[in-house]
Amino acid sequence: MFPFYVCIFAVMNQPFKHIQGEVAWKAPSNIALVKYWGKYGVQLPRNASVSFTLSSACTETSVRYTAKEAPDGNISLSFLFEGAEKPAFAAKIRQFLESIVPQFPFLPYFELEISSSNTFPHSTGIASSASSMAALALCLTDIENTVMGGLRPSEFLEKASTIARLGSGSACRSVYPYLAVWGKHATVSMSSNEHAVPAFEAVHPVFKTFQDAILIVSSDEKSVSSRAGHALMEGNPFAESRYQQATDNLTALLAAMQAGDLEKFGEIVELEALTLHALMMCSTPSYMLMLPNTLKIINLIRNYRTEKGVPLYFTLDAGPNVHLLYPEADKATVEQFIETELRPYCENGKILMDAVGAGPLKIK
Ligand code: PMV
Repeated sequence: MFPFYVCIFAVMNQPFKHIQGEVAWKAPSNIALVKYWGKYGVQLPRNASVSFTLSSACTETSVRYTAKEAPDGNISLSFLFEGAEKPAFAAKIRQFLESIVPQFPFLPYFELEISSSNTFPHSTGIASSASSMAALALCLTDIENTVMGGLRPSEFLEKASTIARLGSGSACRSVYPYLAVWGKHATVSMSSNEHAVPAFEAVHPVFKTFQDAILIVSSDEKSVSSRAGHALMEGNPFAESRYQQATDNLTALLAAMQAGDLEKFGEIVELEALTLHALMMCSTPSYMLMLPNTLKIINLIRNYRTEKGVPLYFTLDAGPNVHLLYPEADKATVEQFIETELRPYCENGKILMDAVGAGPLKIK
């Protein structure tokens, strides 16, 4: 399972004798503006993507680590989700920890007690893989820094982002505040396929407080997993032109965000959302992830924008729920519209009010 030298070293030595501690991080979810859809190798993206880091939809994770008296070369894990044992989640976390021993060779030397919970309610159809993998990656990188030392502050987030990516691709963007780009792109300095980079610095301040109201059209499990969705891009006849389009959209979107051009921003963001769904519709097998109420909401948003001139735009994840994006200055007007016109199309009237946020927080 692990390289032979790791096992032998583990059985013979305990370089971390008597070391124990606990770390805890809170990390947010993110919503992509230019979508990552299609990957290769070990979670490497076929095109660069960019996302808003959110504020309210978060995962809080704590990791208690105690040096084993007699290391055996295996991962020792106990895992609680919202205070209860969840064998299916625990198995995934164990598999993930085993896969990152090359990056974190200290892991088999410790008993790990991981406890995790989400700040957003269950059954909302909101994927928690980005926030949970980001929170876990931050905890593990923090432990590495404590027991091994040597990471400079700038390297800390880069390493956490790399580890989060190995858990769930888009999670790598969640370690940075406000706006993050993941994937090598000619116009983004230091950008990489291995990890995300912060991208807010040159962007117009209107986007720092952008709002995201998440309209829950259905809280059902996704009918196609991200993993299967990405894999379908390999046979998609439009794949190559899609990757080029995403690259061009990222250039244009960042330029619009730097100029504070809301109209251009909205045009690209909506096109990206519909392209993601179009790609799924024309894959083999084909998936239709929008529901009738998704389309109703989209049409209502477009009519409202034309009639009232309010900069309200939508984006979609790989599912039927609609993210409404709008400036903080238009909050009151937009929220009245949401209340009267859009809430009726949500499952049990469910909406999560979120906004662009300042990124992860160390809580212990
Ligand atoms: O990180 P994954 O493998 O769950 O893929 C995420 C894909 C989208 O959410 C649809 C787009 C994105 O860039 O976040």
